[in-house]
Amino acid sequence: MALKDRLEADRSAHDRMSRDTVGHWRSRLLDEINLDELALLTLEQRRARLEKVTGLLVAREGPVLAAAERANLIRRVVDEALGLGVLEPLLADPTVTEIMVNGPDSIFVERAGVVSRLDGGFASEEQLYQTIDRIVAQVNRRVDESSPMVDARLPTGERVNVIVPPLSLIGPILTIRRFPRAYTIDELIGLGAMDAATGGVLAALVRARVNIVISGGTGTGKTTMLNALSAFVPAAERIVTIEDSAELQLKQEHVIPLESRPANIEGKGAVSIRDLVRNALRMRPDRIIVGEVRGGETLDMLQAMNTGHDGSLVTVHANSARDALHRIQTLASMSDVKLPFEAIRAQIASAIDVVVQLGRGADGSRRIVEIAAAGSGEDGEPDLLPLLTFKAEPVGADRVTRGVFRHHPLPPVLATRLEHAGEAVPERFRPDPEQEER
Ligand SMILES: Nc1ncnc2c1ncn2[C@@H]1O[C@H](COP(=O)(O)OP(=O)(O)O)[C@@H](O)[C@H]1O
Ligand SMILES: [Mg+2]
Repeated sequence: MALKDRLEADRSAHDRMSRDTVGHWRSRLLDEINLDELALLTLEQRRARLEKVTGLLVAREGPVLAAAERANLIRRVVDEALGLGVLEPLLADPTVTEIMVNGPDSIFVERAGVVSRLDGGFASEEQLYQTIDRIVAQVNRRVDESSPMVDARLPTGERVNVIVPPLSLIGPILTIRRFPRAYTIDELIGLGAMDAATGGVLAALVRARVNIVISGGTGTGKTTMLNALSAFVPAAERIVTIEDSAELQLKQEHVIPLESRPANIEGKGAVSIRDLVRNALRMRPDRIIVGEVRGGETLDMLQAMNTGHDGSLVTVHANSARDALHRIQTLASMSDVKLPFEAIRAQIASAIDVVVQLGRGADGSRRIVEIAAAGSGEDGEPDLLPLLTFKAEPVGADRVTRGVFRHHPLPPVLATRLEHAGEAVPERFRPDPEQEER
């Protein structure tokens, strides 16, 4: 059954099938099976085995049920016995990007940016605690009154946060953020995030080792874009990636993913993005990719970009290409190495080649809204030349964001770099008449 149908079936079946029923079969199932034997099986085998035993039990002891109802009962019993109970079908649903559990009776999910409440919940607060325990036990942590806040990660990559009473006043709270899906550039083109010519020029710029900053607000698709662009780093290069929470999924063979670590409960043991950037420089990287700069590490990153680690990629939280440069300047000045303002500006001007600005439309769509080449202006102030602009049309009654991408010729510095790297400049970005395209 398709997942959507399964969820629908779940909802309609929910009223008919009380949680007590599921609980009853779950405990019957646990009586019946040999747990030691089960532990030797893979997850898939385990599920198959539990489904079989539950099926036999229900056939032998249960009421006569329609096939769909029976299948549904079996699945719910097995889900609860196996792992994360009501969360399992949500985790299996690729359209769900966030799961928010606010106590046993209130579950919200986010799909395509829209949050809605789920019909149904955990059988009891105890069952929710059991699920939470299973999740955090995977990272050798536990949740109780003495450590009521925990971050963990599911084996499938989802990030999990747990906060329980007495800190939470409405019972245990569980927030699961799905591991973001990795899109290729072609898929992003298909989604309208950019046109094919823009995808081509970005790929060429990455291959030609141009330093690129990806800028945007929260949820505009920065990490997604960073991941898609990283795919164009040639396989022969040694890539070190640095993130607060590993989300990038690079396919190259020679990738070293590093993840920062927050302080422990005594406030010790923190390893910052900055520590990792500095360490990465001693690892002989060909490229350094930083998930997001938020502080003083920005200066280390600029220095790395200026000292032979060309082709570095980084994201920053800002609202326009110009704002991104200002923000980088502010962040770099937060470093404990105090450089004069002019020196930081000079570092930025020589380190950053291109800024890709992302934006989110009223309809939830994400796209490139600006690409600019960064250079050094007359007064030393970093200078920006447009490569791509997006002119949005007024949003109509359908709330759909439409607009026109406008291409501008590559400045000679970048055109020359592409040429030296053996990369062709896509036609729309050649110094020629201005063209327009949807
Ligand atoms: N071009 C796109 N079209 C549709 N969805 C996108 C696009 N880019 C990103 N997304 C989705 O938007 C959400 C946020 O993306 P993410 O890259 O994590 O944003 P950010 O890093 O800016 O916070 C994810 O669910 C991601 O899959
Ligand atoms: Mg991100």
